[in-house]
Amino acid sequence: MADKKAQLIIEGNAPVELPVLTGTVGPEVIDVRSLTATGRFTFDPGFMSTASCESKITYIDGDKGILLHRGYPIEQLAEKSDYLETCYLLLNGELPSKEEKAQFVSTIKNHTMVHEQLKTFFNGFRRDAHPMAIMCGVVGALSAFYHDSLDIKNPQHREVSAMRLVAKMPTIAAMTYKYSMGQPMMYPRNDLNYAENFLHMMFNTPCEIKPISPVLAKAMDKIFILHADHEQNASTSTVRLAGSSGANPFACIAAGIAALWGPAHGGANEAVLTMLDEIGSVENIDKYVAKAKDKDDPFKLMGFGHRVYKNFDPRAKVMKQTCDEVLAELGINDPQLELAMKLEEIARNDPYFKERNLYPNVDFYSGIILKAIGIPTSMFTVIFALARTVGWISHWKEMLSGPYKIGRPRQLYTGYEQRDLPDDRG
Ligand code: SDX
Repeated sequence: MADKKAQLIIEGNAPVELPVLTGTVGPEVIDVRSLTATGRFTFDPGFMSTASCESKITYIDGDKGILLHRGYPIEQLAEKSDYLETCYLLLNGELPSKEEKAQFVSTIKNHTMVHEQLKTFFNGFRRDAHPMAIMCGVVGALSAFYHDSLDIKNPQHREVSAMRLVAKMPTIAAMTYKYSMGQPMMYPRNDLNYAENFLHMMFNTPCEIKPISPVLAKAMDKIFILHADHEQNASTSTVRLAGSSGANPFACIAAGIAALWGPAHGGANEAVLTMLDEIGSVENIDKYVAKAKDKDDPFKLMGFGHRVYKNFDPRAKVMKQTCDEVLAELGINDPQLELAMKLEEIARNDPYFKERNLYPNVDFYSGIILKAIGIPTSMFTVIFALARTVGWISHWKEMLSGPYKIGRPRQLYTGYEQRDLPDDRG
């Protein structure tokens, strides 16, 4: 609501009054929608100071390291909830009753299979294709199969698409892995829970169906929860922008997957392991920390820093605790974890990182747990995309459930003014 005004005074012009809007918690926003009447735009590359929408789904306080999903702290959801309950909460706004949860789980289970013909899409990729390349293509292709639910103005169609996407992402993710291994793809099983089913489809074969470790399934489910949603990050903003044109949900999620792939965003978890491999040993840490501080060196410490968190990423804390639990349970003494912990200690005591409030983010420890679970590095961002699908779809649904306009930013033009082609042209 607007209970304050801001005044914009530009020399030689009458002051412009702009409403100041306040939310439930968090920073106020200056409503600049009327600014176009003055013939001016705001200018904010990278959207460092821009709120692109109003939302009720997730709240982040970067200074205090707070992350709330529909008001519930991520630490509590990770400890006391499970991924499908968190999906219900993000999609519907409230925790489900026992009956609602049972119905939701049953609906998801009944959408986990993909159309048999979807398998042929995989054959067009080389076996060594990056799984994210396959994921982008196959998820976008889902719109070719579901003509019964593409009317985005129909709430039932939006609901069916949301269920299909949350249900099918683990199946498609596991299919990308099996394709890269040259192994037969595994069908989902309705007698397993969401995380168990994913690990079953990833690591079992028709020759041998091994029971799924409850420790690994619980850790997988927690990783899904920690990656479920994160306000208006780059990939979620991409999904909203694609959705604002009326594109179908499968195309919008494929756009989100593409945006997530970048190493500055969801690709960081894979990049952390690659970086730790490159650093190799504790002796080399100082050299790499110096590289990260060197303005002339493009190297950055992957898994460090965040646009919003200028304190510890609360997900990183839970991830580190889970990492310790999983490695202890499995009796794994992972030298990369030792290296990561030493790197974190050195970086966090270095003035360069302290002055810039650079802390480990969600990606810093997730790769070490995923590796312990047996997930190959190339699949790390695929798992991030799998888990974040519910967040992307929740924002897509929220936007389409109310009045919205197509997203169409303007620019500061610094190119040529009009000029004519030379007369001697025919
Ligand atoms: C995710 O937005 C989200 O919510 C994303 C996410 C989600 O759940 O959706 O949380 C998931 O994407 C986590 C972030 C994963 N990315 C990485 O770990 C890659 C490494 N981090 C950096 O690329 C960077 O920190 C970003 C991209 C995450 C944030 O970049 P910003 O907000 O644009 O900050 P910046 O680049 O302007 O950095 C400010 C300063 C700069 O130095 P100065 O110009 O002030 O001298 O900090 C420096 C940067 O050079 N800096 C780093 C650094 N991160 C920032 N220096 C060395 N190593 C780093 N990792």
